[in-house]
Amino acid sequence: MGSVEFRPVTDGDVPAMLDIYNHYIQTSTVTFDLDPWSAEDMNHKIETVAELGMPFIVAELDGNLVGYGYLSTWREKCAYETTMENTLYLRDSARGAGIGRLLLDELMRLGREAGVREVIAVIANTADAAPSIRLHEKAGFIRVGEMDRVGRKFDEWIGVVMMQRSLAHE
Ligand SMILES: CC(C)(COP(=O)(O)OP(=O)(O)OC[C@H]1O[C@@H](n2cnc3c(N)ncnc32)[C@H](O)[C@@H]1OP(=O)(O)O)[C@@H](O)C(=O)NCCC(=O)NCCS
Repeated sequence: MGSVEFRPVTDGDVPAMLDIYNHYIQTSTVTFDLDPWSAEDMNHKIETVAELGMPFIVAELDGNLVGYGYLSTWREKCAYETTMENTLYLRDSARGAGIGRLLLDELMRLGREAGVREVIAVIANTADAAPSIRLHEKAGFIRVGEMDRVGRKFDEWIGVVMMQRSLAHE
């Protein structure tokens, strides 16, 4: 594998990120989105994360954008403000080479710097998302719960696994 580098997202990254994310929306249950995102949707997410003061980073392999990740609001009510939900997506062809782990580690480092105390991953309880569940387990997330049948995609009811990592207690 070449060298992987991380940097903050810019507006110019939107087309590549849409390419990555819309693939998963259309072909898998790893996301509960059903309709492809537009550039406006992705720009809105970038702005929302920036307003929160949370990290939104991209991963580049030999100069090509191969993934992205960010921390965003887990629950809206104010008392939850030091708890964030994490999101990360890699280009399909870049999976399985250790980049996801590096991206998650970098996101946790930046989250800690930004004052985040608890990180929540809400992951589909499906075969598609098994690599994500495994990645989070390896990265120190603990499975704290499950909810069944909370989503419907591709004519199936889908549950989620909730995982949590405490940055404040490390
Ligand atoms: C989940 C995802 C980010 C993992 O990134 P990745 O670069 O493929 O994973 P890594 O190579 O860093 O692997 C990290 C660990 O995850 C596990 N893992 C990764 N791919 C796996 C697979 N296909 N099956 C089982 N475990 C897997 C391994 O345990 C691995 O640890 P190890 O190498 O010490 O055994 C990536 O596969 C992805 O983008 N998936 C689609 C989108 C997604 O599910 N995002 C998360 C939404 S919550």
